[in-house]
Amino acid sequence: MEPVSDKGLSTRILALFIFTTSVLIFQGVYNIFSLDGVNNSITKVYDSVSQVSIVSSEISLPISELRQLSMGLVLAPNDALREELKVNVNQLQKKTDLQLRDGAGVVFASAEASRLYGNILSAWKGYSLAVDVTKAYVNEGVRIAAFISVTAHEKKMYDRVTLAVGAYNAYQVKISTETFKAAQENARLAFWAVVITTVVEVLILKAILAYVINLVRKYVAERRKHAEEVKSKRQVMEESIRLKKSLRERVEADEKLRHLRNYLSNIINSMPSVLIGVDLEGNVTQWNSGAVEETGISAEEALGQPLSKPFPRLSDEMQRVRDAIDSRQKQVVPQQQYEQNGVTRLSEMTIYPLATNGVEGAVIRLDDITEKNANELVLRRAQKMEAIGQLTGGIAHDFNNILGIVIGNLELLKLSIHENEKAQERIDSALKGAERGADITRKLLQFSRHKVKESEPVDINTILEGMDELVAKSLTVSIEVNTDLTEGVWPVNIDAGDFEDSILNLSLNAKDAMPDGGCLNIETSNKVLDQSYVSCNPGSKTGEYVMVSVGDSGIGMNDETKNSVFEPFFSTKKLGRGTGLGLSMVYSFVERSGGHINIYSEVGKGTTFNIFLPRAVVETPNVTSPKNSSSEMPGGTETILVVDDEDALLDIAKDYLNYLGYTVVTASNAEQAVKILEETDSIDMVFSDIIMPGDMDGYSLAGYIHEKYPEYKILLASGFAKKGGELIAGTNDYLTKLAEGRLHKPYNQAELAIAVRRVLDDDV
Ligand SMILES: Nc1ncnc2c1ncn2[C@@H]1O[C@H](COP(=O)(O)OP(=O)(O)OP(=O)(O)O)[C@@H](O)[C@H]1O
Ligand SMILES: [Mg+2]
Repeated sequence: MEPVSDKGLSTRILALFIFTTSVLIFQGVYNIFSLDGVNNSITKVYDSVSQVSIVSSEISLPISELRQLSMGLVLAPNDALREELKVNVNQLQKKTDLQLRDGAGVVFASAEASRLYGNILSAWKGYSLAVDVTKAYVNEGVRIAAFISVTAHEKKMYDRVTLAVGAYNAYQVKISTETFKAAQENARLAFWAVVITTVVEVLILKAILAYVINLVRKYVAERRKHAEEVKSKRQVMEESIRLKKSLRERVEADEKLRHLRNYLSNIINSMPSVLIGVDLEGNVTQWNSGAVEETGISAEEALGQPLSKPFPRLSDEMQRVRDAIDSRQKQVVPQQQYEQNGVTRLSEMTIYPLATNGVEGAVIRLDDITEKNANELVLRRAQKMEAIGQLTGGIAHDFNNILGIVIGNLELLKLSIHENEKAQERIDSALKGAERGADITRKLLQFSRHKVKESEPVDINTILEGMDELVAKSLTVSIEVNTDLTEGVWPVNIDAGDFEDSILNLSLNAKDAMPDGGCLNIETSNKVLDQSYVSCNPGSKTGEYVMVSVGDSGIGMNDETKNSVFEPFFSTKKLGRGTGLGLSMVYSFVERSGGHINIYSEVGKGTTFNIFLPRAVVETPNVTSPKNSSSEMPGGTETILVVDDEDALLDIAKDYLNYLGYTVVTASNAEQAVKILEETDSIDMVFSDIIMPGDMDGYSLAGYIHEKYPEYKILLASGFAKKGGELIAGTNDYLTKLAEGRLHKPYNQAELAIAVRRVLDDDV
């Protein structure tokens, strides 16, 4: 069955109601007609019966009374009675006659009844006449025989009336019997009609009721089903809303968690330190970008691995990690030395025990403190210089005076005893010693001087040109002096005398470093020190400088010596040969001038001191060097292989070149560079440092490349002065050319850009 809607149900029930009502109306109408028929029949029967009674009461009774009266008349013994009876007979005769003629108000139902009633009337008339005869006979005193005949006639007439009445009544009885039967039949039919229609009605009603009940039941069932469906739909909906809500909450929580994780991971990754998480078994659980940078191994590769695999250097530290976990105390290893690409670096390690949510392990923090250490060294040196300067300054001043007195008195003494040669010799010897002492005190005073003397902007080149002779005198003949003074160097604000002393000190040191002769190179150029340089050279500041390089091809220095050369009284020379104050003076001068000094030195190859003196502010201050203007820097898209043993310099070169548009490949030494060249054929140019540890230096690498890949362009760089390079290059023309065109370290971006473009565009 189709589902029943509210409207459908009411329409069906209305249709059934109309149908049932129609059946009832039909039955009612039918019953009314049936009952009317019965009613008609009963009326008819009533009419017939009332006719019979009327005829009986108005005809039969008066006639029989009249008969008795007439009989009494006949039999009356006297006339008086006779007369009285006659009056009664007349009255009754008249009354009956009147009643009969009126027809007693009877309405005849049929012609037969009317006819039969007519018979009664005519019989009455005959009988009334016979009574009249009887009356007449009684008066005249008729004989008995005649009288009997008369009465017999009367009786005959009377019987005729009785017969007519009987016939009429019989007819009426017959009619009423028939009518009653018909009425009975009608009533029976009506009864059956009622019975049948009632039964039919009951059946119809029952069927309708059953139908309606069925319909209502189905309707109710459907409503219930619908309600259940609605309920279950609502439940499903509620469930889905609840699920959606919890899903949303989950997504939000996940999002927050992800955000937090990213945030924490950003914090961890933004730390300059290497941060490595390990579990109790020593497997890596956390690997930050510092660790990736340090090892070159990604977090995906490192996570889950035993620490020694991605970070072999830390394999010996597992015991310390376990100690930290067991003791729940952090373990600090203040300074550890390790070799990286042939360079000694310093690191500090701290191990923090971890116990979070039942997960035990540790976090290892590694900090590269090489730069920090260097900065501290610079700071310590400055402080030391300051302290020693103050101390020696005071003493030197007093000593100078004392020596002045000693020397003065010795000279006076010498004049007074000029005849005593022996005494003269002793005085000379004493004077020599005193003068040496005076020389030291002079140096000490120079070193300890704080204030810059009144100074004016000077041209470095002019001073150096004037020093030619002085320098030459300080050296031996086996040393060749080369000066390369760049035209147009900026003026600098320095004390010219102090500068001359410094150059002299450096020349003397160079002489001592080249006992078998060699080359001394003095160069000047304008330099712009940028942030990259400053971050690699503690103690320096960005800005415009004039660089004065003094380089030799001498014995060079090891790292230890290099780190101590500026300390007062540090000397490697034999006792009496060196005071160890020369470089302290130079340092002090440079500091006083607001400049900076650095050393390039390689044992057995030579040493170059680069002094940076700040550009003097004259008239047009802060005019940026055109060389430094990045908008004018030439760039390119070629691929350049950069080779340098200093990681920091490698990074700087890479950044500079990438910025200029070049693709950069890097190598930490010549051997690595050779390997890269064998594997790649997309290199356009090799830019290499000259002095590198290992069997191959920059020149050997350049020679190898020129032979194997003649089409490759080469640019060399070195902290050493140019002429020294020429010597190292030997007699090879190509290498000599490279040495001529090499880039002087430190170089800034503009210098690198110009040099690279020049080499790339050079046809040869
Ligand atoms: N050009 C150089 N090559 C190699 N080593 C050098 C050079 N210049 C300086 N040194 C080293 O630095 C040390 C300190 O030099 P510094 O000039 O301060 O003192 P000195 O030369 O020993 O004595 P002084 O200069 O006072 O006579 C030297 O003893 C030497 O070991
Ligand atoms: Mg010296």
